[in-house]
Amino acid sequence: MMTRVRGVERVQPAYATIEGAGVRLHRAFGYEDVPLFDPFLMLDDFRAGTQPEDYLAGFPWHPHRGIETVTYMLEGKIEHGDSMGNAGIVNAGDIQWMTAGSGIIHQEMPKPVNGVMGGFQLWMNLPRSKKMMDPRYQEIKRHQVPVATPQPGVEVTVICGTVSGVKGPVEHIVADPEYLDITLRPDTGFLHKVGAGYTAAAYVIGGKGYFDDGSGSFSENRDMILFGDGDSIKVRSSPEGVRFLFFSGKSIREPVAWGGPVVMNTPEELAEAFREYRDGTFIKKKGTTG
Ligand code: FE2
Repeated sequence: MMTRVRGVERVQPAYATIEGAGVRLHRAFGYEDVPLFDPFLMLDDFRAGTQPEDYLAGFPWHPHRGIETVTYMLEGKIEHGDSMGNAGIVNAGDIQWMTAGSGIIHQEMPKPVNGVMGGFQLWMNLPRSKKMMDPRYQEIKRHQVPVATPQPGVEVTVICGTVSGVKGPVEHIVADPEYLDITLRPDTGFLHKVGAGYTAAAYVIGGKGYFDDGSGSFSENRDMILFGDGDSIKVRSSPEGVRFLFFSGKSIREPVAWGGPVVMNTPEELAEAFREYRDGTFIKKKGTTG
């Protein structure tokens, strides 16, 4: 069967912004891009320089409902705690896949280790039928995250999905997503199958690479790439190699009502969430950790 390689629909550089209680970060896509990346809502890149005052204020107590947040640390750590008494540390190489569902209230505080801190937070939407599901934490330690080598010169850290028979630790996510951290050595080509009709996107975190099959224009650190439709992506690294996050998932195709950390289908549901937060009735169910 013929392979239909996806073209690049859009490339946008991440922009500098301030979130939480004053954390300087880069946003690859977000609110203004809905529904382009459906089922993904946002990607924040909080790789920081050497000034802890750029991030130590962190993300103090705040609610979430209707979404999943996926935190992937490269260096440093995030100390988190929630209203249900869960507490933990996301260290370098670890992943926290948090399904807020009906609601959690938590805080996330980045801290340096050996002077450095950096990572990513991806937001995934939940469909109407799952927005009020019970909250769930999946805490995955670095040693539980496998690395696949689908071909020489290609290394894939598999957070979610399956590459060359290597299965990532995160399972049972509604949008059937893939989340991969891919490194191509210099001048290496990589073809990866992606389900037709699934949204597919890449975020470059190092080096340079060509994501548009044959176009000749490269993307570099902090470029966000949205692929068009097809059944595979084809990437070629420059002479310096390239590293990128890749994610794909099934679009939800429902109305999005987004207010800060809460994402529902209608403005009424949003108003209800904030009313419950004020009234102290926001938390519906104690979450599970696994
Ligand atoms: Fe949060």
